[in-house]
Amino acid sequence: MIITPLQKSIQRQGITISVETELGDIAPIAGNIVELSDAFTNIVFNAVDAMPEGGTIAIKTWMENNNVCVSFSDTGVGMTEERKEKIFDPFFTTKEVSAMGMGLSTAYGTIQRHSGKISVDSEIGHGSRFTIKLPKYTERQAQTEITAKEKKIANILIMDDEEYVRDILRRFLICEGHYVVVAEGARKGLDLFHERNFDLVITDLGLPEIPGYEIAKQIKVTHPNLPIIMITAWGDDPLDAGKSQYVDSVINKPFQWDSIIQVVQDILR
Ligand SMILES: Nc1ncnc2c1ncn2[C@@H]1O[C@H](COP(=O)(O)OP(=O)(O)O)[C@@H](O)[C@H]1O
Ligand SMILES: [Mg+2]
Repeated sequence: MIITPLQKSIQRQGITISVETELGDIAPIAGNIVELSDAFTNIVFNAVDAMPEGGTIAIKTWMENNNVCVSFSDTGVGMTEERKEKIFDPFFTTKEVSAMGMGLSTAYGTIQRHSGKISVDSEIGHGSRFTIKLPKYTERQAQTEITAKEKKIANILIMDDEEYVRDILRRFLICEGHYVVVAEGARKGLDLFHERNFDLVITDLGLPEIPGYEIAKQIKVTHPNLPIIMITAWGDDPLDAGKSQYVDSVINKPFQWDSIIQVVQDILR
C-alpha cells in the first residue's frame, strides 16, 4: 500500500532511498483503514521529500503497554524546534511545488479520533522521527464502533480483469466487514453470480469478454433490485457507463478510498 507508490516516487526522482523495517509483533487496532493509511502514506512521502539526496526510511512497530506503536524515521534535513511546532497546523508547508500543507494536520486529526497520539523528534541535518501510538483493539471498542456506524454487511461480487483492481477493492471491502468474491472475467463472474446469493455486484466497464453494461443488463433481467456499481477509468466512454438504467452507481479509477466506501454504504442503505 505504502511501498508501491513510494517506490514509484523514488524512481521518478532518480535518488536512492532504502527502506528498513523492524516490525515487532503488534496487537490489532480498531480503526478506519482509509484514514490511517492516508496518514501513514503522508508521513512516508514527507520523509522522501526530506531526503532530496536519498537516504533511509526506517519503519518500526512495537507494543507499549496496551498501545500499538509505529515509528517512521528518516535521515533527511530535519527541522528546527520552531518548525516542529507548526507542522501539524493546517496549510503549513515549506514546499513550493503543489503541496497543500494539509497532510500532517489531517494525520493529526485522524490519530486523535482514533484515541491515539502522534509525536515528532527531529534534529536539523540528521533527520526526523514520527511516532504514532494507538490503543489496541478491545471487544468493547469494537461494539461501540459498529453500533456507531450502523454498517450493513453485504455479500459482494467483484468482476475485473485487472488483478490489482480486484485486489485493492477486495481489501477495502473486507476491511469494512463485507464478504467478497472476485472474478477475473465476465463469464466466470456470471457463473458465480448464479451459484450464490449476492447483495451487490461491482463490475468493470471495460471487461474483455462482455462489456460491463451488458453484464449489468443481464443481471437486472433476473434481479431487477440488485444494486450494480460500475468501475470506470479515464478514457472509458461515459455514454457506455451511463447505460444507466442498468447501473446504480459509478466509481472512477484512480480510486478514492473514502468515496468507494461511501458509494457502497449508500447503495446498501
Ligand atoms: N520528515 C520530515 N522531515 C522534515 N520536515 C518535515 C517532515 N515531515 C514534514 N515536514 C515539514 O512539515 C511540513 C508539513 O507537512 P505536511 O502537512 O505533510 O504538508 P506538505 O507535505 O504538503 O508540505 C512540510 O512542508 C515540511 O516542512
Ligand atoms: Mg505531506
